[in-house]
Amino acid sequence: MKVERRNLAELTTLAVGGPAEVWTVETPEDLVRATSAPYRVLGNGSNLLVADGGVPERVIRLGGVFARGVLGRPRPGAAVHLTPWIGAGALLPGLVQEAARLGLSGLEPLLGIPASVGGAVRMNAGTRFGEIADVLEAVELFHAGRFQVLDPGELGFGYRTSRLPAGAIVTRVRLRLAPAPAAAIEARMAEVDAARKGQPKRKSAGCAFKNPPGDAAGRLIDAAGFKGSRVGAAMVSQEHGNFIVNTGGARAEDVWKLVKRIQEELGLELEWEIWGELH
Ligand code: FAD
Ligand code: EPU
Repeated sequence: MKVERRNLAELTTLAVGGPAEVWTVETPEDLVRATSAPYRVLGNGSNLLVADGGVPERVIRLGGVFARGVLGRPRPGAAVHLTPWIGAGALLPGLVQEAARLGLSGLEPLLGIPASVGGAVRMNAGTRFGEIADVLEAVELFHAGRFQVLDPGELGFGYRTSRLPAGAIVTRVRLRLAPAPAAAIEARMAEVDAARKGQPKRKSAGCAFKNPPGDAAGRLIDAAGFKGSRVGAAMVSQEHGNFIVNTGGARAEDVWKLVKRIQEELGLELEWEIWGELH
């Protein structure tokens, strides 16, 4: 296990945020030790706005056995493929590509989401083509000092949300995929990729706000004229209104001011999670 003081700006895709004590756990014993004081779990840091002052809690990252994940080869002729247990610290983009290579369908809707498996479960990551809850067979949690396996139906998945018990850490999952012709998988991936073409490549934490029922936050922000609005080095993307980008050295307080301006005018619900104190 590694314990080090890190700036969370280095561990988040928005590249914003102050220091924390980061515990990278590699074994079940590490996890028991790491959870002996107040903690937060960090996945790939792609849905977080972390305060400039950092966080006082331990920040747990899943490495070692918790970051390993392979999908396994489908049996010839089988209609369904249940994967082996996959570590929650494994990254989704690698699994999406591996599935395509193996001729396994089900992960195509998640193409382009820079999540860890655990973060994707927590947020029920998805696109309009589907979400991770659609392909979960079983979820292992570490909660209140012990490991337990849950049926995904017990996790209360909704649009970008789950009802994981407070403090629960997703440690492993099994996925239910379906063998399919490579051409069909590639065609679905191309469709998802095309739907993401308008999203910026710059540093961000994905969409800042949830879409309100029947509308799109990006459209509303665009129509209200926010594109290109800046506070310091934080800017509402010119490409897609629901992305706030870090143009270089942005501070959490700058990002937060932009978020508040948009919320005051449009009343949108934040999709990001906030860590630490913002003003
Ligand atoms: P983090 O940001 O590290 O954490 C998010 C939350 O999950 C925190 O509460 C954290 O404590 C919790 N968490 C993390 N790991 C675990 C674990 N093992 N056990 C329990 N809790 C855990 N999202 C979409 O849904 N669809 C998209 O199309 C999409 N596109 C994106 C594009 C870009 C360029 C970026 C930067 C982000 C995008 N996102 C998208 C947002 C983000 O990728 C998702 O919300 C993702 O699920 C976050 O996963 P993470 O591992 O990065 O979690
Ligand atoms: N639009 C505008 N102006 C903009 C942006 C969008 O008018 O600046 C319009 C588009 O023309 C379209 C509508 O708004 O008519 C929706 O836009 P888009 O197709 O880009 O999809 P979205 O609803 O903004 C959602 C998810 C994304 C996901 C894509 C692809 C949310 C909040 N966002 O975006 O998820 O990648 O669909 O399916 O649900 C995320 O959650 O972080 C995320 C990036």
